[in-house]
Amino acid sequence: MSFVIAIDGPAASGKGTLARRLAAHYGLPHLDTGLLYRATACALLDEGLPLDDVEAAVAAARSLSLVDFDEGRLRAREMGEAASVVAAIPAVRAALIDMQRSFAARTEGAVLDGRDIGTVICPEAKLKIFVTAAPETRATRRALELARAGEDADYAAILEDVRKRDARDSDRSAAPLKPAADAVTLDTTDLDIEGAFAAALTMAQQKIGGK
Ligand code: CDP
Repeated sequence: MSFVIAIDGPAASGKGTLARRLAAHYGLPHLDTGLLYRATACALLDEGLPLDDVEAAVAAARSLSLVDFDEGRLRAREMGEAASVVAAIPAVRAALIDMQRSFAARTEGAVLDGRDIGTVICPEAKLKIFVTAAPETRATRRALELARAGEDADYAAILEDVRKRDARDSDRSAAPLKPAADAVTLDTTDLDIEGAFAAALTMAQQKIGGK
């Protein structure tokens, strides 16, 4: 039977790493839905268009192709910020729904991570995990990630980004960041990757039994 895992949470909470680990463990395909919003924003920036150009943003969202993603570029710091601006546009979100739902509808199941997977995209998902961590911990993790990618990683500026993005993602009216009523919360503030993965596996076993 199809097994869909929905992982949501704020910026740099560790949801991407957790989603990849769970996907590998269960042999399921994984979709990082943040990349869709990052790629939409990137297309506008490349054309020199403002991020509030709704028509162009919808056209960009509709023409995305998962295989063409330049992940290195999309994960740059300013792209996360730009993504959260286009992600607040309801028409952009609507344009990306079918692509995400068809990914989730694969026979074997799928792991999707984002902000609204458990609430809007896959409300029927068997397992929903809401991953959180203190803003300071998330900023430290993101600074490390960016430094590893050779990007400038000023901690204070990154903490400011994290707080601003939390507020924008949580306060928007279209699919705001919030746990689904049936989600389990996983606070990774004091957990490393292995600890978070072990906790998530326990949650999965409680929900579905087995491995
Ligand atoms: O990796 P990080 O958590 O920093 O960001 P991301 O998951 O790549 O998402 C970038 C931005 O896209 C977020 O701040 C959200 O505004 C938006 N997003 C969204 O609205 N819905 C999703 N399902 C995924 C991302």
